[in-house]
Amino acid sequence: MRLQEAVSLRPFNTFAIDVKAKLFSAFDSESALKQLLAAYPNENKCILGGGSNILFTKNFDGLCLKNEIRGITVIREDENFYYIKAAAGEQWHHFVLHCIENNYAGVENLSLIPGCVGASPMQNVGAYGVEIKDVFYALEALHIKDMTPRIFNKEDCRFGYRESIFKRELKGQYIILNVTYRLRKKPIFHLDYGALEAALEQMQVATPTIAAVSQAVIQIRESKLPDPAKIGNAGSFFKNPTIETQQFNKLKESFPKIVGYPSKDDQTKIAAGWLIEACGWKGYRKQDYGVHQHQALVLVNYAHATGREIYALSEQIIESVFQKFGITLEREVNII
Ligand code: FAD
Ligand code: EPU
Repeated sequence: MRLQEAVSLRPFNTFAIDVKAKLFSAFDSESALKQLLAAYPNENKCILGGGSNILFTKNFDGLCLKNEIRGITVIREDENFYYIKAAAGEQWHHFVLHCIENNYAGVENLSLIPGCVGASPMQNVGAYGVEIKDVFYALEALHIKDMTPRIFNKEDCRFGYRESIFKRELKGQYIILNVTYRLRKKPIFHLDYGALEAALEQMQVATPTIAAVSQAVIQIRESKLPDPAKIGNAGSFFKNPTIETQQFNKLKESFPKIVGYPSKDDQTKIAAGWLIEACGWKGYRKQDYGVHQHQALVLVNYAHATGREIYALSEQIIESVFQKFGITLEREVNII
């Protein structure tokens, strides 16, 4: 794999932010990766999958490594499950389609999420009532400094809502090489998400199949979320915050339309999109950056916005949501 200098990262992040990496190389095998790590032990490292959950705010002074290791294999099966190992550089949606074609059930609700397999455990990706942790079996990762491999099982990953050990305690320490998912032979459908039920009804699907659920999810996502090929974005910029149900009920007195869902232990998860819209940000645009007109949780780059401009906008949004509701939004996107 060819190592390049002063490479624009614009094609490699879905926000389409034009910063440069001092050094850049793709790798398509573990041995190629090890060679690169051995050759540049002292450079900072940035691991890139599809670049769909990253905001670059400055040039990257180090080595950017783009994961292009491919391959999907059924490594074993038992009475109820297939165990499928996918290499980190596989496109996530390609993996989902492969599962649907082969009748491996469990990832259909996660259709059309951009990015690669290797990043799926990073923030325990989730959509329409399913998260990676529900289908995760194990992953193999390489320690960046000493290059030793390690297997992480589900408990090791400490998955939470848009969280894992790789975003916290082990941040920047490991490169995920492959992920093994445990998928069902007989599907268990998760259709509780209101919009999903409605889409299936509209498609006149009486008996769901994993292919129909995938189609419904794709339809909903295409109607709501901006296509990064047309408008730069990284999906939800913030997490949906969780507050005490008591505080939620109090807020409801002043803001009767506030949207929240009961969570565990007397907690309520609030729709951050609603909070941001209520502060008047939906559809906001200044120069080339702004807030998406159909989804206030998504910040966008219309053409040549900088990462700093988008970051500064996120600061303004956090401040105004705090002033109005006393709730502090947390960023979901990785800031580099
Ligand atoms: P990248 O952006 O390349 O990387 C993300 C982070 O993981 C970075 O810190 C990076 O250094 C690290 N990383 C990447 N690969 C590896 C690896 N192999 N080893 C170690 N570290 C690694 N997310 C959801 O959860 N649900 C959604 O519904 C959803 N919808 C989205 C919709 C749109 C339109 C967009 C643009 C994004 C959406 N996302 C969603 C966010 C994003 O797609 C996911 O977080 C995805 O898993 C990121 O994958 P990626 O390969 O692009 O990761
Ligand atoms: N809403 C508004 N205004 C808006 C946007 C949303 O009022 O501008 C309210 C609506 O009431 C809506 C509710 O928020 O019913 C929820 O909106 P939506 O169904 O679009 O989901 P979300 O909470 O905004 C979350 C995830 C998405 C995921 C969808 C579907 C987070 C941070 N985001 O969005 O994930 O695809 O649910 O499950 O949890 C991502 O992580 O990048 C992402 C896109």
